[in-house]
Amino acid sequence: MADKPRNGKVTVVGAGFYGSTTALRLAEYDIFETVVLTDIVEGKPEGLALDMNQSRPIEGFETRVVGVGGGSYEGTENSDVVVITAGVPRKPGMSRMDLIETNASIVREVAEKVAAASLDAVLIVVSNPLDEMTALAQLASGFPKHRVMGQAGMLDTARFTNFVAEEAGVPVSSVRTLTLGSHGDTMVPVPSRCTVDGKPLTEVLAADRIDHLVDRTRNGGAEVVALLKTGSAYFAPSAAAARMARAVMEDSGEVMPVCAWVDGEYGISGVYLGVEAEIGREGVRKVVEGDLSESELAALRDAAEAVRAKQADIADL
Ligand code: APR
Repeated sequence: MADKPRNGKVTVVGAGFYGSTTALRLAEYDIFETVVLTDIVEGKPEGLALDMNQSRPIEGFETRVVGVGGGSYEGTENSDVVVITAGVPRKPGMSRMDLIETNASIVREVAEKVAAASLDAVLIVVSNPLDEMTALAQLASGFPKHRVMGQAGMLDTARFTNFVAEEAGVPVSSVRTLTLGSHGDTMVPVPSRCTVDGKPLTEVLAADRIDHLVDRTRNGGAEVVALLKTGSAYFAPSAAAARMARAVMEDSGEVMPVCAWVDGEYGISGVYLGVEAEIGREGVRKVVEGDLSESELAALRDAAEAVRAKQADIADL
């Protein structure tokens, strides 16, 4: 419908696989006035935007996509939300941490420029290694911590849900799962908070099968990278990032697993970590503390310490 209200501007930095699919998902929601897609490469975002706009009569959305190449930020001014996807993806055999130096210099520069153009934006970081790049984007932008968050928990949780649904032979809509902690080796899948049709996961699947799915979730990104040979996952990741941007724009108050600044919750302070948070127009409204088993809480605290050690060096990157 051409006459429905569309508000706001969301910018996606990086017009690679992750950024372009995120931009298209955002445009197809048909709730934004403008989606801006930028890249350091000249022509790529402009061409993708042209192509996306030409899909509008078929898919029936009116949001306009604007492509800005050559590393320019012209046209991104006063964005409400900025999704940072700029950076290099993994190759088979690489860990997310292997990307840290290359992506740190990219994310630092991008966050500084984004902040200069859009003083009041909420930043959603997806570049890897995620927890460190989120911390760096906050530092480089100078934004308050609640206005900078990272996308990982929604994706990891979606992967876990998909694996459980396939194993149990039920629709994905019957399954609730949760992962916390880091987007990496110290990811903390939380079986005690997982259900199938409202029943505890432990009553539906054998313990060794749950362990297997937890393991597969923890390595969910690497499994895709190994199959693709070049590049990393982007369909599920972009779905997660786009939902977060939408929750901000709609001031929805949805509780989502995201990488957020933790300040006292779970007895953890002063670190960007995967937790559940209420998302609204100002970014993270609050971190929501859920019930965890003793071992899950211990694993979350271990994850926090591991991430804290890595985030401590961020300023020097
Ligand atoms: N400014 C803007 N865009 C940049 C910059 C920069 N300084 N540096 C690189 N880019 C762009 C590249 O030109 C490329 O188009 O970022 C894009 C990255 O796209 P892909 O190589 O397709 O990578 P993608 O799969 O999109 O992943 C991007 O998300 O999941 C993470 O680990 C992944 O860090 C990686 C990021």
